[in-house]
Amino acid sequence: MTETQVHKVRFEPVGIEMEVEEGETVLDAAFRQGISLMHGCKEGQCGSCKSKLIDGDIELLKYSTFALPDYESETNHVLLCRTHAYSDVRFELLNYDEDLLSRSIAVKALSGRVAKISALTADIRLLEIEIEKPLKFWAGQYVDLTLENGAVTRAFSMANPPSDGTNLRFIIKTYPNGAFSSQLDGKLGVGDAVIAKGPYGTCFRREARPGPMLLIGGGSGMSPLWSILADHIESNEQRPVRFFYGARTRADLFYLDELAAITAKFKDFKFVPALSHAEADDGWDGEAGFVHEVVLRHLREEKLTGVIDAYACGPTPMIDAVLPILQMNGVEPDHIYFDKFTPAVR
Ligand SMILES: Cc1cc2nc3c(=O)[nH]c(=O)nc-3n(C[C@H](O)[C@H](O)[C@H](O)COP(=O)(O)OP(=O)(O)OC[C@H]3O[C@@H](n4cnc5c(N)ncnc54)[C@H](O)[C@@H]3O)c2cc1C
Ligand code: FES
Repeated sequence: MTETQVHKVRFEPVGIEMEVEEGETVLDAAFRQGISLMHGCKEGQCGSCKSKLIDGDIELLKYSTFALPDYESETNHVLLCRTHAYSDVRFELLNYDEDLLSRSIAVKALSGRVAKISALTADIRLLEIEIEKPLKFWAGQYVDLTLENGAVTRAFSMANPPSDGTNLRFIIKTYPNGAFSSQLDGKLGVGDAVIAKGPYGTCFRREARPGPMLLIGGGSGMSPLWSILADHIESNEQRPVRFFYGARTRADLFYLDELAAITAKFKDFKFVPALSHAEADDGWDGEAGFVHEVVLRHLREEKLTGVIDAYACGPTPMIDAVLPILQMNGVEPDHIYFDKFTPAVR
């Protein structure tokens, strides 16, 4: 039997060192050793883990050229989630966050069972899973859920706050042909086995910040934002919160009673739903348009003071539209946290 080759990895300029086994990606090796590097999809789709190879022998697995265009791969840029090392290797981290590094949680796989599946709208479900041991995570993070037969694994963000570590809840949009999500409508049942592996993700609540907090989401992007909001409320921290949520029609909105109760209780909290395709019989007199347009209008009208933290979660086009608006309206890039719900590589 041949022994697994292990190589040393060093990250500059932070000086962190770790090991990587041949056959695992550098990003997975970091997760295993409790080192939280910048990442998003873990599948070569989003570009969040982009770094520069300084020296060493590596190979890149298949990735999207949206995440790493040719002109970057030609200048020694790599995606750590797609990198296998074949010698000791050094990388320069292009993006790193001291807060993220200091709050790393080692990734674990935990067994669980489906406790409940309920409908929030015509195509959004709430999946509840009881797991064997509490999962330690930060509000806003996600896990990879694998169904019993192991045939399908997908990333889903917890909707519950970390204080509730054994009953994990997920807000999931169903796609008719979705290998995972379509199973929520009948195929997956109470008691079915699930494995939750995590936590992953960099879009988690930064604590003890006094400035305004913007929550921006669309569709199932509600999931991590709901966790962040619940965790913020539990913390008793006082800060202005503006929650922008995009949906197509009135029927696609949910949790309105809960949000009305939060609005009544907290004086500097505003929930701003935006409908992109309000129907005539919706009788909608709220914000119309895409959520990024509504965020822009609000940031121009309401001059928020203090250092703003913004959390944006949902479909990639929504995030791509919202990021420049935030940056051009006074939100510092290193105070913008986001998760793009990129489709899985099949
Ligand atoms: C970091 C991260 C966090 C995520 N968190 C959540 C979450 O909390 N809730 C949630 O619902 N999803 C979340 N996702 C997306 C989720 O992982 C799956 O990609 C999604 O549920 C579709 O999986 P599926 O197996 O049902 O569909 P697949 O079998 O992967 O795809 C089947 C078909 O469905 C359609 N489809 C799938 N994904 C998309 C998409 N994103 N946009 C448009 N069409 C699509 C396409 O037509 C596709 O061909 C997250 C993704 C990432 C990367
Ligand atoms: S491309 Fe590596 S985490 Fe998304």
